[in-house]
Amino acid sequence: MAQKKRRFAVLTGGGDCPGLNAVIRAVVKTFLQNDCEVYGVLNGFNGLVNDNLQLMDYASVSGILPRGGTILGTTNRDNPFRFAVEKENGEIVYEDMRDKVLENLRKYDIEALVVIGGDGSLNIGAQLARECGVKVVGVPKTIDNDLPCTERTFGFDTAMAMATEALDRLHTTAESHHRVMILEVMGRYAGWIALHSGIAGGADVILLPEIPYKLDKVLEKIQQRKQAGKNFSIVVVAEGAKPEGGEMSVARVVKGSFEPIRLGGIGDKVAREIEERTEIEARCTVLGYLQRGGSPTAFDRVLSTRYGVAAAEACLRGEYNVMVSLYHDKIVTVYIQKAASKPQQVPVDSEIIRTGRQLGICFGD
Ligand code: F6P
Repeated sequence: MAQKKRRFAVLTGGGDCPGLNAVIRAVVKTFLQNDCEVYGVLNGFNGLVNDNLQLMDYASVSGILPRGGTILGTTNRDNPFRFAVEKENGEIVYEDMRDKVLENLRKYDIEALVVIGGDGSLNIGAQLARECGVKVVGVPKTIDNDLPCTERTFGFDTAMAMATEALDRLHTTAESHHRVMILEVMGRYAGWIALHSGIAGGADVILLPEIPYKLDKVLEKIQQRKQAGKNFSIVVVAEGAKPEGGEMSVARVVKGSFEPIRLGGIGDKVAREIEERTEIEARCTVLGYLQRGGSPTAFDRVLSTRYGVAAAEACLRGEYNVMVSLYHDKIVTVYIQKAASKPQQVPVDSEIIRTGRQLGICFGD
């Protein structure tokens, strides 16, 4: 009698990110090559609650390596431990759906689950492991690069490349109009995208959540440049940047999401303040979801592929409740519980900040 094949499942959770499909492809191919079966869970944890799983084969992942988004769909709203359910009277209540998740994993005889996600999804994965005994392997996804226990998340390189290209384009228009051009980039409570793209794109000012800024310092830098004959300046502002003694700018409150608030609006605030306090025109561009959409860079394709293979390999050898991680250019595993802890911010005394300071970049302090 033919031996029963081992079965695994893979899901993508949270905001989408370049490289998700490359990870899915690597996970699926590795399982298939090792004579296992693999199911794709549709729309993140929603699919585990609502029994939305599909058997994957080589055809399911053919041609997806360079494609942005995720063929499995994703959501940053559905947490099985606090799942929104609409009652007959239209009222939304939040229920614990862990039993549904466990029932579906049993139904498909899934041995372990690969969770490709940022801190919200990895936290849910860690909770499933801790409280329900589900075997989980995490893959660190986010353009924000703000996960602890890994030197790099996939998607960051692509976001940084997009922001750098935007800065190159803003330079030419800033120079032509003698303006201050502000680019607001994503990153939540960490300034990785702003810092790296700011250095790569030759910014004059970089404002990060980690270094509360003084507007006077920003104005001083712009005026100094003007006196030196530079009639334009480029400012990169992380969405989580805030003035000294002030608050972060909140764009909206998202009900039922893992993450209740979305940041945004600080770039426009800085532009208005520059115009009010100087005679120089200032304009703000919010790069937004362009940082997340589209094809991953070659670096992200390689990293995503390495992560995907490593996650499937961890499952194959029965090493569970870990996250794959990049450490000294090697893929290693770390406890998922540790990886799902506090977001990783830019250390203010890091070499890259010092590099920026040596170049004369103003960090607003
Ligand atoms: O975490 C990735 C990210 O793109 C953040 O940089 C940004 O603040 C947030 O997601 C936006 O989330 P949403 O897709 O819910 O608008």
